[in-house]
Amino acid sequence: MSSAKPYSVVISGTGLFTPEHIITNKELVDSYNRWVRQYNRKHAAKIEKGELEAKPESSVEFIVKASGIEQRFAYVKEGILDIERMRPLIPERGEVDLSDQAEMALHAAREAIQTAGKTAADVDAVIVSCAYTQRSYPAIAIEVQNELGINGFGFDMLVACSAATFALHRGYEMVTAGTARCVLLINPELTSPQVNYCDRDSHFIFGDVATAAIVERADNCTNSHCYEIIGTKAKTQFSSNVRSNMGYLSRVNDVDPFGPDKLFHQNGRRVFKEVCPMAERHLSDHVQSLGFTIPEIKRWWLHQANINMNNMIAKRLLGRGATFEEAPIVLDRYANTASAGSLIAFHLHNHDLVAGDLGVICSFGAGYSIGSLIVRKK
Ligand SMILES: CC(C)(COP(=O)(O)OP(=O)(O)OC[C@H]1O[C@@H](n2cnc3c(N)ncnc32)[C@H](O)[C@@H]1OP(=O)(O)O)[C@@H](O)C(=O)NCCC(=O)NCCS
Repeated sequence: MSSAKPYSVVISGTGLFTPEHIITNKELVDSYNRWVRQYNRKHAAKIEKGELEAKPESSVEFIVKASGIEQRFAYVKEGILDIERMRPLIPERGEVDLSDQAEMALHAAREAIQTAGKTAADVDAVIVSCAYTQRSYPAIAIEVQNELGINGFGFDMLVACSAATFALHRGYEMVTAGTARCVLLINPELTSPQVNYCDRDSHFIFGDVATAAIVERADNCTNSHCYEIIGTKAKTQFSSNVRSNMGYLSRVNDVDPFGPDKLFHQNGRRVFKEVCPMAERHLSDHVQSLGFTIPEIKRWWLHQANINMNNMIAKRLLGRGATFEEAPIVLDRYANTASAGSLIAFHLHNHDLVAGDLGVICSFGAGYSIGSLIVRKK
């Protein structure tokens, strides 16, 4: 945990890239159920003999009740609903072309830079932080740096659902330490290629999006609408309950690099049970460690994985349910966007706070990992 040191640090701009394609629960469930019926027909003999289990159908009602998700955005929709494919069809780009994640990142980054009133010359570092990157190197961040004409340095980091908050922590530390005046943090969450659209338990969970933030020294900030970061806190605890085993060793393990265990999978019930109390303890400790009380926090920009998780954490923290104003929800529209959820909530719902108001940005998820920032409207 750290608190303000030599330089006071602010979040002075954010950006959001929302892909143009929407997939509703109904579209997703219709396609999944057609796929299931085809699967069960294809394997009817084995199912009849008891050698294989028939796959049950998915339902819109279950998805809304279990998750609060009503739709998700897709970077590319083509292919996802095609029962002969069940994954997006994203044409490969050449090595001289802009990568998909850099393109998503640039949309969000340009908005964040513009909102903060900065130019490329003001930015000293670029961090691209998300749940997956489409290649190992060169870093997507360096590609973005090059596109924007930024001096200094860039690097990628992966922290699953906490990638955005952990990157904000790194930006904050770089600015407080004086190693950068201004840092651009970007979260191009291209999650759809990792979703197993043939898995009833998880086919509905994720959406694609990109978020970005500018973190800089308060004395350089020219945006009157900004938030001072007054403390950061991170916690990780190893768990295999949320996993993606996609990786380069598949080549030498002689296994299917795209098998179900290589895609996103989880023990959702365990995650729910274990992460909610962890997140609640983490947040109350963080708030108290800075001398504040829970009722003093005006807004909770919480991770957006599941409405029931958010409700339970808010209830444990506040002793009652939170209003939309206190803890805004975006996952009905965006679904779980890996690390970007709390940043989407912040981006869309921070403009009404007034000077002195306190808020908390918090992520929680795979790792397990929890990251929080306590901010104060300047
Ligand atoms: C994932 C999650 C939404 C599933 O909700 P849940 O209420 O725990 O659901 P379960 O998996 O226990 O399933 C409940 C029932 O619905 C059924 N079901 C599961 N998926 C279904 C679907 N898509 N459609 C219809 N029914 C479904 C199950 O088979 C089960 O039936 P049963 O009671 O007859 O066995 C929930 O566990 C959760 O919120 N986990 C938190 C973790 C999370 O969101 N992580 C995201 C990444 S960090």
